[in-house]
Amino acid sequence: MTSNTTTVPTPGRFIGRPVDRVDGRLKVTGGARYAFEHSNLARGTTPAYGVILGAGIPKGRITTLDTTRAEAIPGVLKILTYRNMAPQPAFGAPMPPNVPDVFTRARPMLSSDEILYYDQPVALVIAATWEAARGAAALIDIRYMQEPGFYDPLAAHAERYKPARINAGFAPDTAHGDADAALAAASITIDQTYRLPYEIHAPMEPHATLAQWDGERLTLHTSTQTIANIQSSVAASLAIPRGHVRVISPFVGGGFGSKLIPHAEAILAAIAAREMQRPVKVAFTRQQMFANAGHRPAMEQRIRLAADGDGRLTALVHDVTAATSRFEEFAEQSGVVSRSFYASATRRTTHRLVRVDTNRGEWMRAPGEASGLLALECAMDEMAERLTLDPIEFRIRNEPERDPETGAPFSSRNLIACMREGAQRFGWAQRSATPGARREGRKLVGIGMAGAMRPNYIGPAQARVAIDRSGQVTVQTDMTDIGTGTYTILAQIAAERLGLPLQAITVELGDSNLPRSPGSGGSWGAASSGTAVHNACLALCQKIADAARSHAASPLRGADPMQARFEEASLTLGDRSAPLAELIAQTSPDGLDATGSAARGETYKTFSQHAFGAHFAEVAVDIDTGEVRLRRMLGVFAAGKILNPKTARSQMIGGMIWGVGSALTEAAMLDPRYGHFVNHDLAEYQVPVHADIPDIDVIFLDEDDDKGNPLGIKGIGELGNCGANAAVVNAVYNACGVRVRELPVTLDKVLAGMA
Ligand code: MOS
Repeated sequence: MTSNTTTVPTPGRFIGRPVDRVDGRLKVTGGARYAFEHSNLARGTTPAYGVILGAGIPKGRITTLDTTRAEAIPGVLKILTYRNMAPQPAFGAPMPPNVPDVFTRARPMLSSDEILYYDQPVALVIAATWEAARGAAALIDIRYMQEPGFYDPLAAHAERYKPARINAGFAPDTAHGDADAALAAASITIDQTYRLPYEIHAPMEPHATLAQWDGERLTLHTSTQTIANIQSSVAASLAIPRGHVRVISPFVGGGFGSKLIPHAEAILAAIAAREMQRPVKVAFTRQQMFANAGHRPAMEQRIRLAADGDGRLTALVHDVTAATSRFEEFAEQSGVVSRSFYASATRRTTHRLVRVDTNRGEWMRAPGEASGLLALECAMDEMAERLTLDPIEFRIRNEPERDPETGAPFSSRNLIACMREGAQRFGWAQRSATPGARREGRKLVGIGMAGAMRPNYIGPAQARVAIDRSGQVTVQTDMTDIGTGTYTILAQIAAERLGLPLQAITVELGDSNLPRSPGSGGSWGAASSGTAVHNACLALCQKIADAARSHAASPLRGADPMQARFEEASLTLGDRSAPLAELIAQTSPDGLDATGSAARGETYKTFSQHAFGAHFAEVAVDIDTGEVRLRRMLGVFAAGKILNPKTARSQMIGGMIWGVGSALTEAAMLDPRYGHFVNHDLAEYQVPVHADIPDIDVIFLDEDDDKGNPLGIKGIGELGNCGANAAVVNAVYNACGVRVRELPVTLDKVLAGMA
């Protein structure tokens, strides 16, 4: 029997609190097992190790392949190459027209003698030890016939084409009004081009997989953001039913978009384990990550702005040209942010691609905004100077009433509040509008800012919540925790809704046997899985309340009030109350459980949903060397309710630090002769270290947005990375008057400008 109960949760006992990570102890004690560390193998088996040999040319064919010497190494069990691989499904069309295919398609490995990119796997050496496999890989005699390739996507002569769709399904081009006419008519215009180099995801944990078979069933312990994609794509690659693949990934050492689809290591581990009838572990080396685990494509963005005398934009044109792989397209939606960020009387955005002979580009944290805002927010800074307007005032004058692209109202938009709060806290008033005006010894000091915006997404998610007779709760979903705090926030949501202490909640994640979720990506994780858990808890509360009212053995039998309150580990109906554990034990000794789901509702069409923010950076530029050092940085964000200020703050700081890396140090250099990322390790591909980040702070504004989900939250995983690089670049300009438009802002570029 179901009565019409209103469940009134006590607000904010757990949600919104800076709760410590519930998995923190496991992580610091080594109890959290990552993919490569798993040792729960089938009885009597020991793993073999697979080491991937990568191609030494970027394009061409294998002419000689002799594994004799390698096979003679003690411990080597088998060497897989295109010559002895079992038949595999074809890779399929080079340009999958519809975006979801990309996540689930077959990805055959070692399937022919053709080389499509440098370091493409050409052999998998399987041995009893990793050392033997690695030693043997070096002894494979492989020779190639190299064919000419193209590796210079931003060259003037590069052949551009228009993709049918860009990432997240957007149209490549949009236009509102006659932007060309507005540009021609305006007296104040900006026409600048900004370049971003290839960037590499550098999660602490490289891609790694342990594969084992039990008959026709495959289990993968792997490092992934999205269980369901791995399950589908590995099943397609091995031509086995999806249900025969179990994917387990309870702990993930970072992903940043590089773990949304399976890569060579997972598929080769699965094939090798089948071949050997034995568990096989394969991991990428850090060097292999560069060519084999995706990158943010090199791109060029031309921004044209026109403004009237009041500082109102009359034209905004954002043209993106980016590299894409010849064999699999990826088009980052970098111009899309310009469709919704500022009001402008006219507007145009375009995306063009240039085919290069590299591996495919992939999603990298805040695909679209992290790159697009660099161009837009630097151009806004340049335009503000032309207008002799304060950059914040200029942005306020171009604040749109509604989404400029769709005309839909914003679900909430507190960009201006973020800028004002940040300006006040950061001491923006002390900024000199004249570059180079603040000198401290041999340093020039400046500050800059930029806005942040990132769409608020939600994806289809399911969760199950069960309570046992002792009042212990288990939350289950195949959602992942990629270091973001998923375990913690889901425990908080369940504790809050059920009125139980955190210790009563166990969260189980990262297993394809659990209810399906969209995983961690696109900043949709918390909203999607959190909503599913929230709804499952409400359904469970209803079941508990029904049992309490109606069950013969219930201490609350006959209680009739409409209101049920779950708090202090008790259920209260009217003026009667009973401990939850006692209620369950007496009414439902086998426990109770309920499921809940989340989906993208109508409000995603009727409202424009984004999280917003503003970054402030102060840098010092050395007059003699041009070296740029960050001095301090502040991010102010309005992103709906914040489930956990502690884990949220970590997310934002991580994103901001990446912005500093993008602005100042990160560039994967593609050798135009060999199509090879030459600086393919963390010694030469430089990400910021502690000494680069002296003082960084994060503020969240109070916001509660009820349009996207019942929790009132917005995605934050990528927001900190949106616009952070632009704030640093703008600060460099303010410090020394050098406007570097080709990232990273290294000292050679700064020094050239200062001389
Ligand atoms: Mo994100 S780039 O979808 O992990």
